Amino acid sequence: MNIKIVQENWVYSKKVKDHFFHPRNLADDSFDDSEYNGVGTVGSPACGDVMKIWLKIDPKTDKILDCKWQTFGCASAIASTSMLSTMVNGMKVDNALKIKPQDILDKLGGLPPRKVHCSVLGDKALREAINNYRDG
Ligand code: FES
Repeated sequence: MNIKIVQENWVYSKKVKDHFFHPRNLADDSFDDSEYNGVGTVGSPACGDVMKIWLKIDPKTDKILDCKWQTFGCASAIASTSMLSTMVNGMKVDNALKIKPQDILDKLGGLPPRKVHCSVLGDKALREAINNYRDG
């Protein structure tokens, strides 16, 4: 068998490691979703992993009061969704929709190229959750 070793940067930034080891806004076992009015679940065609995001949005101001999430995804998905959850808290829904996966990557100090699709997972789930809120 002929295996080609591809050289690429597998180093995670300090920010990625921090958010992976200490994920922010993770929906733990005690999480109660009864006050959350937007929920989005997506699966990644690239790896089969699943991401779920819950949003608590003030209907009077359209402001995101809280963002919780869970995933079966990898370290990069955990770190990028943790970062995303800190970015959207307190943001108006319209502004949250302007966030792009690249913005998450910039905040994290980048991801290895093969892991960029993992940051798209949280972004997609966020959009689903906002759509779900808007559909009422
Ligand atoms: Fe599947 Fe990262 S979320 S490889």
